[in-house]
Amino acid sequence: MKAIILAAGKATRLRPVTLTMPKALVPVANQTLIGYAFDILKRSGITEIGIVVHDLDSAIPQALGDGAELGVKLEYIVQEQQLGLAHAASVCRPFLGDEPFCMFLGDNVFQDKMEGMFSQFLNSDADATIALGEVPDPTRFGIVELDGDRITRLIEKPKEPPTNLAISGVYLFRPSIWDAIARLKPSARGEYEITDAIQILVSDGKPVTGYRLKGWWIDAGKPDSIILANQLVLEELPYTPAPEGNGLITGNSQVSHRVILGEGSQVIDSVIRGPVIIGKNTVIKNSYIGPYTAIGDNVVIEGSEIEASILMKGCAIRNIPGRIDSSLLADGAQVNAAQTRPGSHRFVLAENSLVQM
Ligand code: G1P
Repeated sequence: MKAIILAAGKATRLRPVTLTMPKALVPVANQTLIGYAFDILKRSGITEIGIVVHDLDSAIPQALGDGAELGVKLEYIVQEQQLGLAHAASVCRPFLGDEPFCMFLGDNVFQDKMEGMFSQFLNSDADATIALGEVPDPTRFGIVELDGDRITRLIEKPKEPPTNLAISGVYLFRPSIWDAIARLKPSARGEYEITDAIQILVSDGKPVTGYRLKGWWIDAGKPDSIILANQLVLEELPYTPAPEGNGLITGNSQVSHRVILGEGSQVIDSVIRGPVIIGKNTVIKNSYIGPYTAIGDNVVIEGSEIEASILMKGCAIRNIPGRIDSSLLADGAQVNAAQTRPGSHRFVLAENSLVQM
């Protein structure tokens, strides 16, 4: 079975981070969001993956290439116009052929690795199986009604949701979906909705089943949900003893268990309390790094305290009073205390930036 991962969206809710970086490449616990989709697919034996991108010059092909380093075989498929999920699937038809396939929305992180779902689907007579999770805000999702494990009705973003069981973004289809997609009309938001195509299968009497996700699931579309996903993934870091005596932890430092320290990174006169992941060649000096923090490569943190945050590669934080918490800093972002008088605040911020002081 092949898979397609949809990653052509504009990701406006994650601006300004996504003004320069596609959402698929945003790191959660120092792994790209799309890397979590690869993990799930690989566990079920799927390595041939088509990634739907807006154009081939996108940073995604540049970053992931043919996928060999990640143990997958990637092809890129261009969706020029954003006409909905069903439209995105239909541009992949030449890649997928007339075989069952998986469609994965590239901005979800799941605790459940869904190993049973793929084999159960292939051994069943279902035309489609979709992963479902309970959500507190069902008006934001596609919602289903179930009879046993059989889906009896699907509604995209209902105003009055009949259940809180949401379509989570992992779909398994047989080729019958192509005929349903061909019969679609644009929805109220002007898109060809995959939810409506699946409803056509159900209305035609075809078996469509739901797979109930175990554990947490984060639709990582906003800064807060990226930070929450980071926390939940770091929470699962297995126990590792405190790193010691490698010459890179010096001075009056304390580094706890469940701290992953990348090659060449230095901890000088600092306290790090896991779970924390730190990339390569990062320097942490006279600082405190608290739980649920992910720090990328080539970051400098001096004289500052940080907790439950994501700092991507090349960031620098120097001499900030008070603790930095639940923050998301994209590549190369700098936060420095003013060194000269007047001790004023100075900002260079992109669209939708947030500063809380
Ligand atoms: C899409 C689907 C929706 C699904 C959601 C999951 O919505 O249309 O059915 O519940 O993804 O993240 P969108 O995020 O495009 O609004």
